[in-house]
Amino acid sequence: DEPEDLKPRSAVVTIMGHVDHGKTSLLDYIRTENVVAGEAGGITQHIGAYEVTLENGREMTFLDTPGHEAFTAMRARGAQVTDLVILVVAADDRVMPQTIEAINHAQAAEVPIIVAINKIDREQANPDKIMSELAEQGVQVEQYGGKIQCELVSALKGTNVDSLLEKVLIESDLMELQANPDRNAVGTVIEAQLDKGRGVVATILVQNGTLKVGDVFVGGMTSGRVRAMFDERDQRVQEAGPSTPVQVLGFNDAPEVGDRLVVLDDEREAREIASKR
Ligand code: GTP
Ligand code: NA
Ligand code: MG
Repeated sequence: DEPEDLKPRSAVVTIMGHVDHGKTSLLDYIRTENVVAGEAGGITQHIGAYEVTLENGREMTFLDTPGHEAFTAMRARGAQVTDLVILVVAADDRVMPQTIEAINHAQAAEVPIIVAINKIDREQANPDKIMSELAEQGVQVEQYGGKIQCELVSALKGTNVDSLLEKVLIESDLMELQANPDRNAVGTVIEAQLDKGRGVVATILVQNGTLKVGDVFVGGMTSGRVRAMFDERDQRVQEAGPSTPVQVLGFNDAPEVGDRLVVLDDEREAREIASKR
């Protein structure tokens, strides 16, 4: 076989951390700051994955999985969807059970962590205490003599969020992430719902290849053909390349979170594979 023609792909980043430490606020700030002018009003909330284009033209995909359960479900299915974890810890709180759980998830998946110590605008903020508690959990940040990048941020005010994203870019550049956009798509189901009018609507993170309208696929126990695709702004798209989240219509049955979607060359093959599962 000829060697594959690999091209750089953007990083897929998951924001994790304890309840109320500011995950959604951080993602909201990143999204609104990096939304193309004029589209701010049209952002939809229902898709749990966002692709953002930064000022310097670089792209990044953020997964807003409904939390640790989805991450656990995906890991149980052997699905590796994230390249990096941003670990959010509130500076006015402490390292909490779900902080530790997030660290464990990231370490088990061998995914690099970048720490965002959030809420530094608060009077009670004590980032030093957070750093020392993180060190006790084996997460040694740079400011503490370790190797893990850490930024002090305020998701509320936007303080240092640019620097945080810069650190994410540095880390992802080191990983030299690549994919082949010219092959049949392979991806993972991030979420799936049954919509009264549209049938099964699944959010797929395309990880390799390019997913196209008309493609025949298997996904977990089910199969289908891509009938239509929409991006995170609900705009209809014809194709989706590596590291792109997309909503897909055309599943015969609802897949499960973490199921792998694989595009095949023809429909008979898809039916045969799905019937054997
Ligand atoms: P869950 O999804 O419920 O786990 O919470 P979360 O981690 O997404 O936290 P969320 O973004 O909902 O923030 C929780 C609360 O903290 C909200 O009231 C936010 O307004 C507040 N908050 C988040 N970031 C900051 C910050 O940087 N500074 C201050 N002062 N408050 C913040
Ligand atoms: Na919250
Ligand atoms: Mg949240």
